[in-house]
Amino acid sequence: MAQKVKTAVFPVAGRGTRFLPATKASPKEMLPIVDKPLIQYAVEEAIAAGATKLVFVTGASKRAIEDHFDTDPELEEALTQSGKHELLASIQGIVPKGVSCIYIRQGEPLGLGHAVLCARPAVGNEPFFVHLADDLIAGDPGCLAQMADEYEQHGGSVIAVQTVPREDTSSYGIVAVDESDRNRITQIVEKPAPENAPSNSAVVGRYLLGPEIFDKLETTGRGAGGEIQLTDGIADLLKDSAVYAYSFTGVRYDCGSKLGYLQATVAFGLEHPDTGERFREHLKGLLTD
Ligand code: G1P
Repeated sequence: MAQKVKTAVFPVAGRGTRFLPATKASPKEMLPIVDKPLIQYAVEEAIAAGATKLVFVTGASKRAIEDHFDTDPELEEALTQSGKHELLASIQGIVPKGVSCIYIRQGEPLGLGHAVLCARPAVGNEPFFVHLADDLIAGDPGCLAQMADEYEQHGGSVIAVQTVPREDTSSYGIVAVDESDRNRITQIVEKPAPENAPSNSAVVGRYLLGPEIFDKLETTGRGAGGEIQLTDGIADLLKDSAVYAYSFTGVRYDCGSKLGYLQATVAFGLEHPDTGERFREHLKGLLTD
């Protein structure tokens, strides 16, 4: 049986230009969906999948992420004094005991593959998750837990995929698979035009990778958009290792886009115990006016 995955890597160095001016001084990963920032959903999903070492690959203007996962004795004291115990619990439980956070700076914005390579010293020679916080996936169990389960049963690297409309292939890594071999990936291409795409099965931001990927990324040249792409490192990995495409159960929201972010906000707002009922009434009213 394959070993347990204990490490999760969160590449959070990107500038989030699609959300300017909101992301001018504050990281896009700190954008909230109702009352939790995207990066907290990411961390919770990884912890639920068994991760105990969280590696954040950060860049300029990302201090708020470190502060978010740090303790805040002053705020805790103030909440204790005012008897706000529920709020106190909500900030104390963000990083449970036994889980550690490591921050590594990606000195230059050279791409996702380079960001993952920056995490190498913290990951070591073990399998690890990569989680892109922009892709929020509602599911129970979470997407990473589903992938860990798949990995523990069958081994290999595992990449989450979902079918997208043909015309959208140029926004994703696109895979071709061998269906007779548990959807083993035979080809992966970063952001191909629809006419060149090997399928319409798109990589979403969840990867479970063996440490062999690091040697591949060391030699991966610049690809799509002039960046060192994780997809290209994985294409190299396919030559000598098994990498499987995994169709997860759950709903994915592309929170890197304004529309996806709004869709997630509405979906999570409708489910939230504090807001759900009244928000539903409000939306009904809006739609029938
Ligand atoms: C990245 C990856 C791409 C993947 C996508 C999922 O692209 O490079 O292969 O399909 O995440 O969200 P980005 O969205 O950062 O441009």
